Amino acid sequence: MIEDMKKMAGEKAAEYVKDGMVIGLGTGSTVYYTILKLGDMVKDGLDIIGIPTSKETENLARNLGIKVGTLTEYPEIDLTIDGADEIDPELNLIKGGGGALLREKIVAYASKKEIIVADERKIVEKLGERFYLPVEVIPFSEGVVFRKLDDMGLNPKVRMKDGGKYITDNGNMIIDCHTGPIKDPKNLEKELNMIPGVVENGLFIGLADMAIVGTKKKIKVLKGV
Ligand code: A5P
Repeated sequence: MIEDMKKMAGEKAAEYVKDGMVIGLGTGSTVYYTILKLGDMVKDGLDIIGIPTSKETENLARNLGIKVGTLTEYPEIDLTIDGADEIDPELNLIKGGGGALLREKIVAYASKKEIIVADERKIVEKLGERFYLPVEVIPFSEGVVFRKLDDMGLNPKVRMKDGGKYITDNGNMIIDCHTGPIKDPKNLEKELNMIPGVVENGLFIGLADMAIVGTKKKIKVLKGV
C-alpha cells in the first residue's frame, strides 16, 4: 500500500520533466520511481541531463541509460525531484534519512524548481514531530559538535551502520537529533550551520516549490507559499 503511494507520486513527478532539461535526481525510495520512469522516457527519446544527489542515484541513473552530468558542468538546474522525511504546511522539509542531505541541499539550492515526492505519512504540522533531524559533521569535530547539540537539548545520536559509524558520500558522519516538534526551523537551520564542524543539516527551508503526495485514494499536489 505504502509502495503504491510512493509509486503514484514518483511517477507523477516525471510528467514535469521536458526535453532538454537539466534535472536534479534526488535520493530515496520514492524518487526511485521517478528515476525508473525517466529511464523509460529516455529510452523513448527524451533528452535530459541528470545531476545525481548520491552515488546510489548516480548508479541507478547510469544503469537506466540516463545521461549524468556534474554541477561544475551544469551549475544551474531546471528542475529537481527529490523525496523528504517530513513536509510541513509551508513545504519546509526535513531530509537526510538516507544520508544524502548535503548533496541534496546543494542541488536544491542550484535548482529553479524543486518538486518533492512522498507518501502521506510524511505530512506533519510541525517539523521534528515524527522524524529525527540529521546533521552532517566533519569527523574531526564529532565530540565538539555532539556536546553542543546536547547542550542545545537536541538529543543527539551518532548514526551507525553495520557496527561502525555511518559515513556519507562526502566522507563525513551524521548526528541525528531527536528534537521533537521544532518551534523555529528557519532559525535552527542557521544556528546549526554556525557550529564549526557542521557541514549541513537536514532542514530545507523555502527550497521546495511543490509536493506531490501519494495518499490511499489519489495524488495530492501541494504548492509552496
Ligand atoms: C535522503 O537523504 C533523504 O533526504 C530522502 O530524500 C528521504 O529520506 C526520503 O526518502 P524516501 O522516499 O525513501 O522516504
